[in-house]
Amino acid sequence: MTTLSPLPAPGGRVLVTGGARGIGRAVADAFAAQGARVCILDRDAVPEAPAGWLCIAGNVANPAAVEAAFAAMDAAWGGVDVAIANAGLAMNTPTLDLSAQDWQRALDVNLTGAFLTAQAAARRMVRDGAGLILFTSSLYGSIGGAERAAYCATKAAVANLARALACEWGPAGVRVNALAPGYTETDLVAGLVAAGRLDPKRLAARAPLGRLVQPEEVAALACFLASPAAAAITGAVLPVDAGWAANGAP
Ligand SMILES: NC(=O)c1ccc[n+]([C@@H]2O[C@H](COP(=O)([O-])OP(=O)(O)OC[C@H]3O[C@@H](n4cnc5c(N)ncnc54)[C@H](O)[C@@H]3O)[C@@H](O)[C@H]2O)c1
Repeated sequence: MTTLSPLPAPGGRVLVTGGARGIGRAVADAFAAQGARVCILDRDAVPEAPAGWLCIAGNVANPAAVEAAFAAMDAAWGGVDVAIANAGLAMNTPTLDLSAQDWQRALDVNLTGAFLTAQAAARRMVRDGAGLILFTSSLYGSIGGAERAAYCATKAAVANLARALACEWGPAGVRVNALAPGYTETDLVAGLVAAGRLDPKRLAARAPLGRLVQPEEVAALACFLASPAAAAITGAVLPVDAGWAANGAP
């Protein structure tokens, strides 16, 4: 049986963008707990980064910053096994008030940042004949929502970017998938709750499991996708949303 891109053995080299906090940090911690070597690319400092992590400060929408993170991994570890393009921002604004600048900012970070990360990763992975790229899409990659035009558009684009790249790089042994988290308890959601734009009780009630998602549960899906059990999974967009997107009932 042919095995595509198995789990990098303990010591595998993992890059996480937006890994300073939230989902990205939980993903980084989960891979590190399995013995991976971790590199974070984040615009913010990484609080209490464990010894040995590479922490690169930069904006994922800046090609030079993305390349700098991968170059640091090349220099330290000789390449990359898993790249998780996770950095993203929320944009909950009535669309009639959405400025062209804010629309562009969402595209730059949520879509272009994911593209640049995947391209830089694949330059190494295609050369090496193995690798896994994950995007953090969203439940809003497959459904719509009022006052979320830029977010929905970018997260749907990221989901289909995963499919396109899976087709292109699969023959070279590189898998590409997207995670589609539901509402997850992070600073991003806390900020929207604090601004009165989200009601956590209503969000939980909408989910068949009656609750929000924990960052560690998204991280567990990422680790599964890097495991030998997921060796045939590519081009997939996988929900981890407590059933939220499945629920069409009012
Ligand atoms: N929290 C949720 O409910 C939820 C649900 C679905 C999808 N997501 C997606 O998951 C990802 C992470 O979300 P989160 O809730 O952990 O957010 P968060 O705001 O808690 O953390 C995001 C991290 O990304 C970093 N970041 C943001 N813009 C950046 C940029 N331009 N360059 C580099 N780093 C940048 C931030 O500094 C931060 O460390 C995002 O793509 C988000 O859209 C979140």
